Amino acid sequence: MPLVPSYIKKLEQYKPGKSIHEAKIENENKKYIKLSSNENPHGASPLAIEAIKKTYSSLNRYPDASGYNLRNKLAKIFNIKKENVVIGSGSEGIMSTIMRTFLLNDDEIITAEGSFIGFRVLANASGRKVHWVPMKDYHYNLELMAKKITDYTKIIYIANPDNPMGTYINKSDFDQFYSHVPERVLIILDEAYYEFAKFQPDYPDSMHYRYDNVITLRTFSKAYGLGGLRLGYGFAHEELVENLNKVKPPFEPSLPAQYAGIAALDDSNFLDKTIKMNSIGINYLTNEFNALGINYIPSYTNFITTIWKDSEEAKFISNNLLERGIIVRRLSSFGWENSIRVSIGTEKENYGFIEALKACL
Ligand SMILES: Cc1ncc(COP(=O)(O)O)c(C=O)c1O
Repeated sequence: MPLVPSYIKKLEQYKPGKSIHEAKIENENKKYIKLSSNENPHGASPLAIEAIKKTYSSLNRYPDASGYNLRNKLAKIFNIKKENVVIGSGSEGIMSTIMRTFLLNDDEIITAEGSFIGFRVLANASGRKVHWVPMKDYHYNLELMAKKITDYTKIIYIANPDNPMGTYINKSDFDQFYSHVPERVLIILDEAYYEFAKFQPDYPDSMHYRYDNVITLRTFSKAYGLGGLRLGYGFAHEELVENLNKVKPPFEPSLPAQYAGIAALDDSNFLDKTIKMNSIGINYLTNEFNALGINYIPSYTNFITTIWKDSEEAKFISNNLLERGIIVRRLSSFGWENSIRVSIGTEKENYGFIEALKACL
């Protein structure tokens, strides 16, 4: 079909972790535990759910295109101006708008190989040249990424912490890297797992930097439990935000999403519980992995990536877990053939996963 550009023809579609629905098609009667998409296992923020209910009677109306109330609330919380806040349908929605807003013909992109697959799809879909820089010891190789910067570089994407590695770039490494980045290059700092990593004293919370060429992206999908609603936000220089707002689909995010976001930001009980249960879950799983002699990458997120002998072993373990009703994410589509990522579940789910894993072993 000549209508489709060749880079779109070649594009590999985003494949999310297996859903319970998909697993049930294969085995209808089984009960499944889904630990494949780094969702919040404790449900959604109850205050957000209440706020969504209040929008039922207004669903015939378009949402506020300027997102005034939610942007204002985020601005107050983070002590910046509303003009520095952008919102969208998930942080991926904003990422997509960024690509459409800033990339020109010969512009190039630099990012890490094997990092967040959502960005990989957007970068490939842009049709621009992308430098995929291999990671080093499961971390972004910032030194090499800095060396790849040329006159053509326009966007550098960094997930901090990274998905699927779970590792983060510390302050001094980021500072060192930043000193090599010209002002005309835009850095997308994707902090989807910020709420889980922010307690590390050397974590570079990009809100403290406020560089003109850095755009911070965060999400309500993880710690706030609103993945199904599609709501993300970002912070950037007001001129960047102004232009992003011209390009983004005008009524994004939806009306329920905007209301839910405002309420979720007040739900500190839910957020605290999520963070606490996540940290208990990480400790439990890592202790069990240690006892079982399973290799894993220490994580600062709501998932842990385990490393297996080879692709065959990783495939065997993930298939075997699925037969036992546990859905995990094999990372072959990310390019990590011998790795399996497991999201932190509820206490019961984590226990169920470990019992199933022991049975597989
Ligand atoms: C690093 C990273 N960025 C962004 C996202 C997507 O976030 P959202 O649901 O806000 O689009 C994810 C989801 O897994 C992620 O891991």
